Formats: sequence, structure tokens, C-alpha cells
Amino acid sequence: MKNILVTGGCGFIGSNFIRYLLSEPGFSGRVINVDRLTYAGNPENLSGIDTDTDRYIFVKADICDRQAMSDVFDTYHIDTVSHFAAESHVDRSIAEPDAFIKTNILGTFTLLELARQHQDHLSLFHHVSTDEVYGSLGKEGYFKETTAYDPSSPYSASKAASDHLVMAYSRTYGLPVTLSNCSNNYGPYHFPEKLIPLMILNALEGKPLPVYGDGGNIRDWLFVTDHCRAVWRIMQQGRRGQTYNIGGRCEMTNLSVVEIICDILDEIVPSDSGTSRRSLITFVTDRPGHDLRYAIDCTKIEKELGWLPQESFKTGIRQTIDWYLTHQKWVDRIKTGEYLKWIESHYKM
Ligand code: NAD
Ligand code: TYD
Repeated sequence: MKNILVTGGCGFIGSNFIRYLLSEPGFSGRVINVDRLTYAGNPENLSGIDTDTDRYIFVKADICDRQAMSDVFDTYHIDTVSHFAAESHVDRSIAEPDAFIKTNILGTFTLLELARQHQDHLSLFHHVSTDEVYGSLGKEGYFKETTAYDPSSPYSASKAASDHLVMAYSRTYGLPVTLSNCSNNYGPYHFPEKLIPLMILNALEGKPLPVYGDGGNIRDWLFVTDHCRAVWRIMQQGRRGQTYNIGGRCEMTNLSVVEIICDILDEIVPSDSGTSRRSLITFVTDRPGHDLRYAIDCTKIEKELGWLPQESFKTGIRQTIDWYLTHQKWVDRIKTGEYLKWIESHYKM
């Protein structure tokens, strides 16, 4: 793995992955980051790394653009693909699904075709996916790698389609692939349209904290660096043609997550009025097709690859809150961006 193509490296998880990889003693190659810089792609997420031209190259391109991606494969002698690029926000997929179909399905297909054409010197195509492809759990049970796909949203349906294509290319063409389905991530550089960063920033500004439905929906939370370590472990040691589920064994209702954020903020930056931020919690209309519960059985990656998360929610959420408090410029830049208009029109409160 000398020339790793990382797609979507300016996004939340992709940028954390590039930072992780370039600091890994076991990796001495270069990273070629291809990102289209949609509203969610922020080059500032890689500040400090973007000047390391020996080991880091950035190409602004759309993964759906076959010619541009073919040039990337040829110019940089790509031998490994780690595919993060996607449209990733469920609510946007409900409002405007087109981009999800294009990027998540056609974009993945384009990359797979190029990987197939360069198969003689391709060591791995790793596809980063989500536990949302499995649909919703009731109160009991866990998602295993063998759980049947049953996606609920245009986002999860498009990710499911891309997963099927990846596995089909493994079975049909013998493409060396691995696939990971991970639970909800949180941590630095998380775009503030997703639950955790949105709640941190709204709470700091004394704005309402919109909780969908009764707040009883359950997600399994994993600190982003633990996800990055898992992806790298799978890329290095995972069996080709296999799927690995990744999770934090950390199930929480949305309401508890929001309450914990309020309580930590009250402790470290008390509000001027002294009122608890919990008073900002506002129950709003539920998301259509809102999956009730996600929970991952990650026995396979634990047993086969010896991976375990290093952060608990208690340690990870404090690090995350500290990061947002100490990166005000990053926050301000995001806030002046296009995303704000969308968030304001979506959360008419
Ligand atoms: P993100 O939205 O923060 O970042 C996505 C990145 O992809 C952005 O930099 C964006 O500019 C880029 N991109 C989008 N369309 C592109 C295109 N057509 N061509 C090139 N680049 C494009 O997403 P994220 O949260 O970092 O998620 C990364 C991956 O991890 C996704 O595949 C997602 O499905 C998966 N995943 C996310 C989570 C999570 O909790 N965020 C959990 C499990 C899996
Ligand atoms: P989100 O961060 O969008 O991730 P996903 O939908 O991929 O799980 O949402 C996490 C949970 O939080 C989900 O159950 C929806 C809920 N949610 C809210 O209650 N309020 C919000 O403002 C947002 C963005 C999400």
C-alpha cells in the first residue's frame, strides 16, 4: 500500500482518517485525497497536513467523473482505495435524494470500474459503509454481518446499493475488497448538521435543541478515531471479500445524548443566566421513516482482528466538546457557509 486513494478526505471521517494514517508508524506511503468539496467538504479539516507535499496530495474532483478519476489512478499509480466519499446526511436525503443516488451509487460504481481496469496492481478496495443499511432494530437484538439489508432512508438505500456493488465486484471479477459497516461516529471536524455537533453549538448559543419525536430513538456511538483505527486494521489484516461491523457497544437514546451535552456544557461554561441548558431541549416533528434503534454486534472484528474501541462515550464526548470550544474559527467559517441557509430553512423553529 504505497499510493492510497482516499475519497472524501475533506469530510468528517475522511479527514480524521488521513490524519490518523499519516501519523501511523506502519504506513510510509502517500495519500491522494480526492474530494469534490461539497458543502460537507472543508479543506480546513486537513490544515497542517495539506503542506506535506511528499506524502499528501489533494485533487479536487468528483468521483462520478470517470475521466478525472482515471487520470488520478494513472498519474498517482493508485494501488489501494479507501472509499469514504458520500452524501451522508439522512435528513438531506429525505429532502433531496438525487445527489445521494449519484455520488453514493454511481460514484462507487465509477471507482469500482476503474479499480477493475487497474486490477493487476490493485492491492485493495476498501469501502466505508454504515450500519443503517440493516434498517431498524426493535428493543432486542444486534446487527451482525449476516443480517439482511433493509434500508429505510434514501441515504441508507443508496449505501446499501453501493455495498452490493462492492461485493458483486469481489465475486464476479475477483476484485480484492473489504467492507466495513460502522455505527454513528462523533468527534472533531464533525459537520454541525448531525446530532452531536449541532447540539453542542446550539447549546452554546442558547438556541433551541431540536429533538425528533420523543427522543427515544437509540444510536450506538463510536469516537471517530476508533473508527479510523478499525478501518486501517481491516485494510491491513481483514480477509478479502469480507464485511466487518464496527461499533462502540455504546447504545444511548438521543435524549440522553443531548442531556449529557447540556450537563457538561453547564459544568465547564455555565450560561450567563445560570439556567440549565436542558431547558433548551425542544421536541419537534419526527423524521419520516425514523429508525428506532441501531446496535452493532462487533464480535467478528474483535475476535479476528483484535480491534476494540479505546474511547468510552464519557471520555470521547468531553474531548469532542473541548475541540469545538477551542476551534471557534473553524466553527465561524462553517457558519458563514452555504449549510446555514439549509439548516435554517429545515429547522423552522
Ligand atoms: P461527510 O459528509 O462529512 O463527508 C463526505 C465527504 O465526501 C465530503 O468531504 C464531501 O465533499 C465528499 N464528497 C461528497 N460527494 C462527493 C463526490 N461526488 N466526489 C468526491 N467527493 C465527494 O461524511 P462522513 O460522516 O465523513 O462519512 C464518510 C463515510 O463514512 C460515508 O461513506 C458514510 O456513509 C460513512 N459512515 C459515516 C458515519 C457517520 O456517523 N458519520 C457512520 C458510518 C459510516
Ligand atoms: P444524525 O446525527 O443525523 O445521524 P443518523 O440519522 O445517521 O443516525 O442523527 C442521529 C439521531 O439524532 C437520529 O436518531 C436523528 C436524531 N436527531 C435529532 O433528534 N435532532 C436533530 O436535530 C438531528 C440532526 C438528529
